[in-house]
Amino acid sequence: MPDKIVGNDFGPPKAGLHIEIDGKSHPVKAGENLLQAILSLGLDLPYFCWHPAMGSVGACRQCGVIQFKDANDAQGRVVMACMTPVAEGMRISLQGPDAKAFRAGILELLMTNHPHDCPVCEEGGECHLQDMTVMTGHTVRQYRGLKRTHRNQDLGPFINHEMNRCIACYRCVRYYQDYCGGDDLQVFASHNHVYFGRHEDGALENEFSGNLVEVCPTGVFTDKTFSRHYSRKWDLQTAPSVCVHCGIGCNTSPGERYGSLRRIVNRYHGEINGYFLCDRGRFGYGFVNGPARLYQARSAETGPLDVSTAENRLRAMLEDAKGIVGIGSPRASLEANFALRERVGAERFHAGIGDAEHGCLRTLLDLVRNLPLHLVSLREAERADAVLILGEDPTQTAPRLALALRQAVRNRALAIADELGIPHWQDAAVREAAQAEKSPLFIASPAPTRLDDIAARTCRASPRTIARLGFAVAHGICPEAPAVMGLTPEHEALAAEIAQALTSAERPLIVAGTGCLSEDVLRAVGQIAAALAAARPGRATAVHFAVPECNSLGLALMEAQSLAHAAHTIESGEADTLLILENDLYRRADRTTVDALLTRARQVIVIDHTLHATAERAHLVLPAASFAETEGTLVSSEGRAQRFFAAMQPAGDSRDGWRWLGPWPCLDDLTRALADSLPVFQQITACAPGAAFRIAGQKIPRQPHRYSGRTAMLADIRIHEPKQPEDTDSALAFSMEGAANDHPPALNPFVWAPGWNSNQAVGKFQDEAGGHLSGGDPGIRLIGDGAGTGLPWSVPPETEASIADALRLVPLHHIFGSDETSMHSSAVAERAPHPYVALNPEDAARLGLAEGEEVELAPDVWLPVKCLPGLAAGIAGVPAGLPDLPVPVTAWQSWKPNKPGDETS
Ligand code: SF4
Ligand code: SF4
Ligand code: FES
Repeated sequence: MPDKIVGNDFGPPKAGLHIEIDGKSHPVKAGENLLQAILSLGLDLPYFCWHPAMGSVGACRQCGVIQFKDANDAQGRVVMACMTPVAEGMRISLQGPDAKAFRAGILELLMTNHPHDCPVCEEGGECHLQDMTVMTGHTVRQYRGLKRTHRNQDLGPFINHEMNRCIACYRCVRYYQDYCGGDDLQVFASHNHVYFGRHEDGALENEFSGNLVEVCPTGVFTDKTFSRHYSRKWDLQTAPSVCVHCGIGCNTSPGERYGSLRRIVNRYHGEINGYFLCDRGRFGYGFVNGPARLYQARSAETGPLDVSTAENRLRAMLEDAKGIVGIGSPRASLEANFALRERVGAERFHAGIGDAEHGCLRTLLDLVRNLPLHLVSLREAERADAVLILGEDPTQTAPRLALALRQAVRNRALAIADELGIPHWQDAAVREAAQAEKSPLFIASPAPTRLDDIAARTCRASPRTIARLGFAVAHGICPEAPAVMGLTPEHEALAAEIAQALTSAERPLIVAGTGCLSEDVLRAVGQIAAALAAARPGRATAVHFAVPECNSLGLALMEAQSLAHAAHTIESGEADTLLILENDLYRRADRTTVDALLTRARQVIVIDHTLHATAERAHLVLPAASFAETEGTLVSSEGRAQRFFAAMQPAGDSRDGWRWLGPWPCLDDLTRALADSLPVFQQITACAPGAAFRIAGQKIPRQPHRYSGRTAMLADIRIHEPKQPEDTDSALAFSMEGAANDHPPALNPFVWAPGWNSNQAVGKFQDEAGGHLSGGDPGIRLIGDGAGTGLPWSVPPETEASIADALRLVPLHHIFGSDETSMHSSAVAERAPHPYVALNPEDAARLGLAEGEEVELAPDVWLPVKCLPGLAAGIAGVPAGLPDLPVPVTAWQSWKPNKPGDETS
């Protein structure tokens, strides 16, 4: 088994101490700073620059307390709580008049230049600065001079900038540069004119820039997509949800007003996303209310249908079917997929993903079930002290994992800090002591990645060569694993170096996934895991497999048939009807194949929330609720089943996908049926309390107690306040009435506590500052617990045959562009690349191709050449999943570029 991760981000728990706060003794953990300790005790102390994920720098001076030397010291001295380690018997005062006066004075100074524009500030009502102002008791402004003012910048489609609100706490640059590795957000000037922004206007480049909205304690950085349809936090109806834009499973809180989804914010999960989301997850929600949204059923023959006609049409078509092929979806819930499976039968239930991805997921599951593998959470990934990435660019395929790996390379710095006796939370001191020292990170991938800047070594190669390198690493770790013949001397040396680093690490981690669609790469990971397990008996190997969609792993666990099997079933005449759930097949296979499948099927029925190419060819389209309007369970790449809940009622005539398919009266019945039917899902009913759960007889309100306008907001339709909609599928209510406290973590829609209106209120819901959620982080792990006993050694793949004048195609993923639903958000689409074919510059020269020259990727699909330095030789990279590129790259093994005028192949 891997090392169990216990304690918070600041290191393992240490022996308990006692300190005296305002005359009362409290237990605290040794090694903490006073601010952490005070907040972990549930007490209030204002702060700005400290952040649980980033530690202390003592910049803002807001957390001052009085520390007394000994029992005889009646005066004490001011110390910064965030910079002061706790010590046995320490005496401090939070509430003494000197402590309070100091903090009120600091707050007043910080506010000298602040514009006091709360009524027009989008942070208002959830502002940490507002909260701290009230907490310190600063109520009267004495400064009568001119305030300094700044010019704001256009920071791109995600973030607004209003620099006049800055209090110079430095959190933003510390987060952006030190935590995320970004370099285009800087601090400029000095003294009273200090400026936080870019050197010129332009989109913030880092993929995690959206967290500035939550990191900045004031309204300098706000959500630009939210601005367009802004509502105060207290007027938003929210629900606990899970991001649907990749397989990581970050927890989110979507906010609704007037029937439209207004924004996504982070929902803290101690094992997964912690405090941070990626920008795809935060800003990719536009599809819920976007122009392609389906609100009404439609028939290809007769156009729009009302609900009862649509139900009758569906019933008639299914009764008329000679056989039904069901095609499920990795972006639909377990329950919706299971409902389809029940409707068509297990034999006729298909996964609805490309065949290459299907094969990869089967291989992946085979490894997870049979090898001593532990699928790590992101918190565990952050603790890895040596990492090998094989074939993946995590920033593009599993973004939040990339941010975790950026923290993992800091473990060497933390080890140096330990040697020098520097606490981990002393952020500046740790960075100063460690300088550029990093834990080893090795990346073998076809193209440059966004983590290359922190890698000890990178290797650019085709997926096959990457796999061979992985097998060689396994042999280097355990000589019983078969050797790899014919490696280049460079690759042999690299394999030996990686093997050495992984073997000598305490917590090695292997990262791979379905990104380059290579089963060989996955088998190589299995081989390394087995080799490490042999070298370290009794310990499972930590692995993270990135999977593309929010329920890719859940669907794989259902053992659905492949898309090729679906095509065969229709082609052979065994079935004549396609029932497609939340899936655009044109993203899964090449156009000719999908055209043939849809043409051969006598009846095509699509259930989805968004209009797409497949739905346009369906005989009947039924509108489904989006993730923000329905409940269900998703399985993340960690193997964790998590429940998400509706933030709002389904729009128009849309309804839960499963409600079109089956007879289940409520979600609990369906979830129970799934748990009873497939043993791997036996535990999923425990993901969250069911619909019957009550606190003192009450449901949990989705609306805060300050929710306003409920009586007036629909007065243009009816002057009587309408009855709030009932929710029979969960213990949440579409209401502001209900149980205000003690929500189980899986059912907590938002964080709020007296005096804490900002997201910093999450501290009141944690077992300690930066720790786990009180009551446990939500979700049930279904697989990947390291219990597998072993597989025979695999035979390494041969070198691939050379193909004259041709290249091998690999998909290149883009955080903005490769995900289907987020591309319906205009802000995300603005950041997506245009379609291209990427070539190594030497390959381009050899083939006589110049940058920008058009080449034929597939019949009648012409794309410009992009010369990409660092791309492995002999391969061509094609962006995966772009809506303007109707050709999934899985279609080809090799590709010979044609230019205009060439004979078409
Ligand atoms: S912009 Fe926000 S986070 Fe950055 S220094 Fe100013 S107040 Fe702090
Ligand atoms: S990493 Fe994945 S799950 Fe997390 S916010 Fe980004 S897209 Fe969503
Ligand atoms: S929070 Fe302690 S000095 Fe800023």
